[in-house]
Amino acid sequence: MSLLLEVDGAEKRFGGLPALDGVTFGVDEGEILAVVGPNGAGKSTLLKTIGGLERLTAGSISLSGSKLDGLPPYRIRHRGVAMVMQTPQAFASMTARENAVLGAMFGSATGLLSEREARVRAEEALGFVGLSDRAEDPVATFNLHQLRFLELARALAGHPRLLLLDEVMAGLNDAELEASIGIVRTVRNQLGVTVIWVEHVMKAVMNLAERILVLDFGTMLAEGAPADVMRDPSVIEAYLGSSSSA
Ligand SMILES: Nc1ncnc2c1ncn2[C@@H]1O[C@H](COP(=O)(O)OP(=O)(O)OP(=O)(O)O)[C@@H](O)[C@H]1O
Ligand SMILES: [Mg+2]
Repeated sequence: MSLLLEVDGAEKRFGGLPALDGVTFGVDEGEILAVVGPNGAGKSTLLKTIGGLERLTAGSISLSGSKLDGLPPYRIRHRGVAMVMQTPQAFASMTARENAVLGAMFGSATGLLSEREARVRAEEALGFVGLSDRAEDPVATFNLHQLRFLELARALAGHPRLLLLDEVMAGLNDAELEASIGIVRTVRNQLGVTVIWVEHVMKAVMNLAERILVLDFGTMLAEGAPADVMRDPSVIEAYLGSSSSA
């Protein structure tokens, strides 16, 4: 497998304390990497620095050997990096289809698309996440699970190489969780998209992730195969009293 993303000595400071401190790891093409850790560990900050929504204060990030850090978010998006944020970002007054079309038009790795092409991609993406029959519905009528799937469709409509997911399974019931796990697995298996996925829902992480990276106070506590990492005494200690039971 070839290396897709390289994060080297990533540091992010908001004022004094570092939210990320010397974070170094690589992600192979086609891998599903889960990033876990207690609240405030720096997980969202890590995804945001990869997506260009926050700037590193030191270190570097590259995609297939080209530097990403320092680029504005839209250029990182055009390199094929799509992000689904912790809080859904869809336009509530628009329909699901309109949202997906916007995702295709402005999020495409191949640059600006024609409206026609964008519509085709939007339909495909909505079909992929099982929302075809809701395409005409205003997003304001969607529940949390449907909103998350729509966010995923918006990201997929841009045909990304790397998908950054921030707690997309929080607050779902068991059936919704199963459906979400299935979709993320299919995104990788069928579309070949590499996934970096921040998650607190450990049941889902253990089911889906191939490798886990644990952050604590902005530093890397452990990295490796899920079963090994979760046996690591330092990880167990960091998690005691945190939300690992979810
Ligand atoms: N824009 C910001 N300005 C100041 N501090 C910030 C900012 N964003 C994040 N932080 C701080 O950086 C640290 C890491 O935050 P981050 O949101 O990355 O954590 P997280 O691991 O995603 O937590 P959670 O599990 O609660 O989502 C926290 O101490 C947070 O307060
Ligand atoms: Mg977060």
